[in-house]
Amino acid sequence: MRAKITVVGAGNVGATLAQRLAERDYADVVLVDIVEGLPQGKALDMLQAGPIVGYDSLVTGTNGYDETAGSDIVVVTSGVARKPGMSRDDLVMTNARVIASVVREVASRSPETILLMVTNPLDAMAQLAGAVSGFPRERVIGMAGVLDTARFRTFIARELDASVEDVHAYVLGGHGDTMVPLTRYSTVAGVPIADLIPRERLDAIVQRARDGGAEIVGLLKTGSAYYAPSAAAAQMVDAILLDRRQVLPCSVRLEGEYGIRGLFTGVPCQLGAGGLVEVLEVKLSEEESAALHRSAEAVRDLVDVIDSRRDEVGAGIPSLGTGALIGSRP
Ligand code: APR
Repeated sequence: MRAKITVVGAGNVGATLAQRLAERDYADVVLVDIVEGLPQGKALDMLQAGPIVGYDSLVTGTNGYDETAGSDIVVVTSGVARKPGMSRDDLVMTNARVIASVVREVASRSPETILLMVTNPLDAMAQLAGAVSGFPRERVIGMAGVLDTARFRTFIARELDASVEDVHAYVLGGHGDTMVPLTRYSTVAGVPIADLIPRERLDAIVQRARDGGAEIVGLLKTGSAYYAPSAAAAQMVDAILLDRRQVLPCSVRLEGEYGIRGLFTGVPCQLGAGGLVEVLEVKLSEEESAALHRSAEAVRDLVDVIDSRRDEVGAGIPSLGTGALIGSRP
């Protein structure tokens, strides 16, 4: 039997992701949205691309959730995207309501599924999804680091006129202004980037990667990025569905790793069948560890906002938990 992947949200990110997954030809795809006709129309269009591109993936669109039952992976992209001048955090209460109801619907019909969260503000939405689903941490994973890293890698490759495939980069922390690019662990064909790019250029590249999403929002004006975000989510689906055991930066609930407990934060994760296989703990300098904690604190502030307004998010929403920063190492 073919694997089944549900994509909730048939907007820019969701529909582009559904297309990328259909073209991989390894799973059937169910596309869900609240807008009547939108997921059905896009799904039918994608289905009709199959004979040309050469895939047999069945793509179905729906406004309900019964069709999603028994999904191996559910990717959640539903919610509102930012407009110019907005930060990801400005979306918090609107998207919290969407995420709480969507996660309830999908979790009840696919209790064994793996949730891949894409909706922003990412880490806080992943934390909410974890609480509402009650799933173990292995099965609730947020997409941020793959995208942030891809932006960083792109700018490094452009700077050096190198192949993006030769550029390996590390970005930790929450998805947003507090993300922590680890230049020490970033290399081009094995050579540390600090040996190749002067400090001030590197700082500018780091800043541009950090503002990568806002730069695109400023250009598009009516929405946010979706080609790279959908590619990032698809890479995570590959790692899980194909049990690749690839190490990718993802947002997961930390249980003491990096001195953080009970909070979703971006760290290097091995992904395979079952979702999160392992959190990798790389050695951080004091400065890097402090930056990661600052990032986790920003996530905690948002989580606290949702937690204190749980009654506005939905009836009977469980506590999101109180995260703790417990020093540089457990
Ligand atoms: N249930 C299902 N779908 C919903 C719901 C809901 N409760 N609420 C909104 N949606 C749908 C919208 O109808 C829309 O089609 O989610 C879709 C979002 O699509 P876009 O507005 O195009 O936004 P997109 O660019 O795809 O971004 C979605 O991903 O990267 C993040 O910050 C981004 O949080 C945003 C999310």
